[in-house]
Amino acid sequence: MKRKLRIFRYDPETDTGGSFQTFELEAVEGMTVLDALHKCKEEQDGTLTFRWSCRSFICGSCAMTINGRNGLACKTQLSDLRGTIRIEPLAGMHVIKDLVVDWEPPLATYRSITPHLIADDDPPEKERIQLPEARRRYDAAATCILCFACTSSCPVGWTAQNYLGPAALTKVARFVEDDRDTATDHRLQMIADENGVWRCRTAFRCSDSCPKDIDTTGTILRLRRRIAARALRGRVAE
Ligand code: FES
Repeated sequence: MKRKLRIFRYDPETDTGGSFQTFELEAVEGMTVLDALHKCKEEQDGTLTFRWSCRSFICGSCAMTINGRNGLACKTQLSDLRGTIRIEPLAGMHVIKDLVVDWEPPLATYRSITPHLIADDDPPEKERIQLPEARRRYDAAATCILCFACTSSCPVGWTAQNYLGPAALTKVARFVEDDRDTATDHRLQMIADENGVWRCRTAFRCSDSCPKDIDTTGTILRLRRRIAARALRGRVAE
């Protein structure tokens, strides 16, 4: 079956703005958007540029906007898409070339929230033991692959440059809900302002766009409840 793809093109060396190029290809059963991009590149235009690595929904590098919705190119089946397929780079991010965006700004935000375990006690000889039920508390948040589909889809982030955004806030929740982490007060303090959880407008676009089905909006709301509860107890300054 023939399929048409309208793919965003932008070359910083020759273009002042982006445009769309139409590709047509023979789609086969099981073909993903990433497969289609490879086919377009190999058979029609070798300059087409996009990011990918694992092809297995693990690395997050193939996140892009497909028919108006953020997702992973390696996970999205052509057969699930109707009509001409429109493929664009993630919104709200600086485009480096074609479908490749600059991940450094969201990664800098991510690094700012101390995205690793903090524990006051002396390290054990082997691993820090955790009960399965305690692990389950942050199961969903731990599946985040940092594709930034959520952050890119958030309308607040498009205008509020300092907003931490759903990806970074989900990572905060991952450690706040981990009973081995001892920096809960510090973490909640860090996100309890206008650039943290209170900036979210609960548009739910982040939850809708997560390829791992993480309820990122619900996660932010859980963090809000924790902050409110601690503020009531006088442990987190307003
Ligand atoms: S190529 Fe790794 S998530 Fe798609």
